[in-house]
Formats: sequence, structure tokens, C-alpha cells
Amino acid sequence: MKIVIANDHAATDLKFEIKEYIESLGHEVINIGTDSHDSCNYPEYGAKAARMVAAGSADLGVLICGTGVGISLAANKVKGIRCGVCSDTATARLIRAHNNANMIAFGARIVGSELAKDIVKSFLDTEFEGGRHQVRIDMISAIENEE
Ligand code: RB5
Repeated sequence: MKIVIANDHAATDLKFEIKEYIESLGHEVINIGTDSHDSCNYPEYGAKAARMVAAGSADLGVLICGTGVGISLAANKVKGIRCGVCSDTATARLIRAHNNANMIAFGARIVGSELAKDIVKSFLDTEFEGGRHQVRIDMISAIENEE
């Protein structure tokens, strides 16, 4: 798959580690930065990655900031994006299986790099189950369209 990865300054080191890990799983990674430790604004990076997923230029997205929350909030403002913040592998699996999440976020200040890799693997290895879950995804899309 083609995976877009984005981060702010709080997560630059972890981003490089996760990028290499995703590539080792056989996926293509599009890194849109930041590649610097200089202070920057996470909404810029979250939105840029989210727009790529929404446009189909990437299949799924991985977002990392200090907590994972700020960058996920920005991504979720882009139409068609379902991004969940995860600090454990069960949630990472279930946001794909049940919520058809197309982006995952986590915090470089919250999870260590080994757990982050397991979280990413759980997310990438899981397929959406559809069925009763599709009805709920359609309801979320309807809310988005009404706003
Ligand atoms: C940056 O210091 C920090 O606020 C950011 O990485 C993130 O944690 C926001 O949600």
C-alpha cells in the first residue's frame, strides 16, 4: 500500500523510525514532514496528509505529534477522513475493522517506539469488516455532509 506519514517537531525522530519500519513491511511511504526539530504547527502537516488520503494519492495515513491528538483533530476536519488516536494495538486493529479509519495518530510523548511499531502494524494489517459497521460509517458521512 501507499502510506503517507506526517508529524510535527515533537515526533521527528519517531517518524523516521516508523517510516523505516513501514517500508520494511513492504509498503511505500510518502513522508511529508516535518523532517526538522524546529517548532512547527501540526495542523499544517495533519491537513496536508489528510488531503492526500482523501484524494486517493495515499491509501492510508500515519500521523504523529506529541500526543497524537492535535494532528488527528486537524486531519479529521478534512472531508472523508476518519482518524483515530491509538495508544494500544487493540484500538489500532478495531479502528480499521469497525470504524474503517483511513488514518491513525499516536503521540511520540506517549508511546515508545516498539509499541508504536506494533500499533502501526495492527492498523495496516487489518481490513474493514463492513456489514453492520458500514451503516454507522454512512451515518458519520451523513453528519459530515449536513454540516
Ligand atoms: C507540540 O508541543 C505539541 O503541542 C503537539 O505535538 C501535540 O502534542 C498537540 O496535540
